[in-house]
Amino acid sequence: MSESIKVVRNLRDLRKATSKWRQRGESIALVPTMGALHAGHLALVKLAKKKADKAVVSIFVNPTQFGPKEDLSRYPRDEAGDLAKLTAVHADLVWAPSVEEMYPDGFSASVRAGSAAKELEGEFRPFHFDGVATVCTKLFNQVTPDIAIFGEKDYQQLAVLRQVVRDLDIPLKLIGGPTKRDKDGLALSSRNAYLSEDERKIAPTLHAVISALAKDVANGADVRSGVTKAKRKLTAAGFQKIDYLEVRDAQTLAQPDNEADGRDLRVLAAVWLGKTRLIDNVAV
Ligand code: PAF
Repeated sequence: MSESIKVVRNLRDLRKATSKWRQRGESIALVPTMGALHAGHLALVKLAKKKADKAVVSIFVNPTQFGPKEDLSRYPRDEAGDLAKLTAVHADLVWAPSVEEMYPDGFSASVRAGSAAKELEGEFRPFHFDGVATVCTKLFNQVTPDIAIFGEKDYQQLAVLRQVVRDLDIPLKLIGGPTKRDKDGLALSSRNAYLSEDERKIAPTLHAVISALAKDVANGADVRSGVTKAKRKLTAAGFQKIDYLEVRDAQTLAQPDNEADGRDLRVLAAVWLGKTRLIDNVAV
């Protein structure tokens, strides 16, 4: 392998690296991740390299955004593999703090996510977005990036973080990168690793169904009956549980009114295949 990437695990070394760049007048883009990197993450890093002089990637599996019954302990981890991938795309630095570095003894303050966090994921994962908002605010303060880049795959997360950045006057530009998909349409996700062979065959149906719904709504179909039809298709395909499948305002994530014509809309869904929860979204 070519020269290996710089990995920093404590805040003092991180600040040393970023202040050197700052003194040279170089801009910084941050791509926050929880590791187990796939082509979707790497596309965000490539975007970061285009948008700024330096690309920092954080790898931190953030315990505060997992509920007590969620998959924190089995969340995929592969630091050596991640570092090789980040070296290949020429990321400039990896910020990989331990849990103790991020949340030292006595840590107790937090950021409460705003209105964009209330429904959809928020109904099923009540503390999730507070955890995301808190860790991302810390990452922003630690790395002090000019730009932070997040995948549109987690569309609601992007909306929640836009509110945090705007409402708390955090001086950075937030950019959403398009969702990367396998050839059959399945959105790339670190959690796809949980799918069995049979579940993996069913999984792309999620994208097919929400895309068909988006097309129907764009063509003027009634949203409510379109959603009912789409849910039926998902159940018939083998998805055991649908947490939500909704058409929402693309900016605020509020329910669109009946006069939704001409509004910017987004279809968002979360469904279960066995023990794996998949989320996806598409523009109308
Ligand atoms: O999207 C993720 O991987 C995480 O939610 C994030 C933004 C890195 C915060 O832990």
